[in-house]
Amino acid sequence: MRQDHLISASHLSREDIEAVLDRAADIDDDPAAFRQRHAGKVLGLCFFEPSTRTRMSFDSAMKRLGGQTVDMGPVESSSVKKGETLADTVRVVEGYADALVLRHPSEGAATMASEFVDVPLVNAGDGAGQHPSQTLLDLYTIRENAGLDDLTIGIMGDLKYGRTVHSLAEALTNFDASQHFVSPESLRLPRNVRYDLHASGAQVREHTELDEVLPELDVLYVTRIQRERFPDENEYRKVAGQYQIDSETLESAADDLTVMHPLPRVDEISPDIDDTDHATYFEQAHNGIPVRMALLDILLSQDR
Ligand code: CP
Repeated sequence: MRQDHLISASHLSREDIEAVLDRAADIDDDPAAFRQRHAGKVLGLCFFEPSTRTRMSFDSAMKRLGGQTVDMGPVESSSVKKGETLADTVRVVEGYADALVLRHPSEGAATMASEFVDVPLVNAGDGAGQHPSQTLLDLYTIRENAGLDDLTIGIMGDLKYGRTVHSLAEALTNFDASQHFVSPESLRLPRNVRYDLHASGAQVREHTELDEVLPELDVLYVTRIQRERFPDENEYRKVAGQYQIDSETLESAADDLTVMHPLPRVDEISPDIDDTDHATYFEQAHNGIPVRMALLDILLSQDR
């Protein structure tokens, strides 16, 4: 990878992405070969927002590479409650770790924090901004199930506040992918993401109805309406419960449609899809292990 940190998917070239995905495939094939790869190294976990998948899979990935982790723990029991700044927190934690993983509610927090540390920093979600390590595992899952070129993908739900969507859409511009965005008018992609997609020449269309595009799709990537990011609860209520899918919805889909979701889900995907061949979201979450192992392996092996 060209950069020391992983802050935004827009910084990733096709070569960067394929290096991580190929390494993840090597890990999947022979995990034992990587078991002592980073023995003696420590990963710092700084999560200022709730997480299950990202926190636990980074923790597990580091341990499966032979390393260890130190976790800041809940914000409530950290010195953040005494008023410590983010800059001071990461400057301190870099002294305890060889790399840092940061999740924060403020967009831009990872960029700012990376300016204060010399160890590699991974943005594990910054508000409604970016979530690039999620994107790497999403791309790995897409490559395994549908291929990354000649791909037609639908991305549905909360495109405004969904950081996984912003990262995935930008990363897919490295591939021959047609992207169809399905959302209510009020939750369209933010202007800056739309601008970046158009500037890169991406094949992009926007829809308000899934039916308009479902039969064409190889992959349907569903997202949760990000209730916690709405400044006004009334605005959330206007869109809550829209864009749910169940087995009946998928009757017009291709037999080999891959349904993905970064999880957690609330009510966007009915459990009656879980036992169908379409359901790929639990496999997707499990791919967090080889992909985050690959990412850490690459970041921790770079000359600095
Ligand atoms: N997909 C994802 O980021 O999940 P968590 O919020 O549980 O980490």
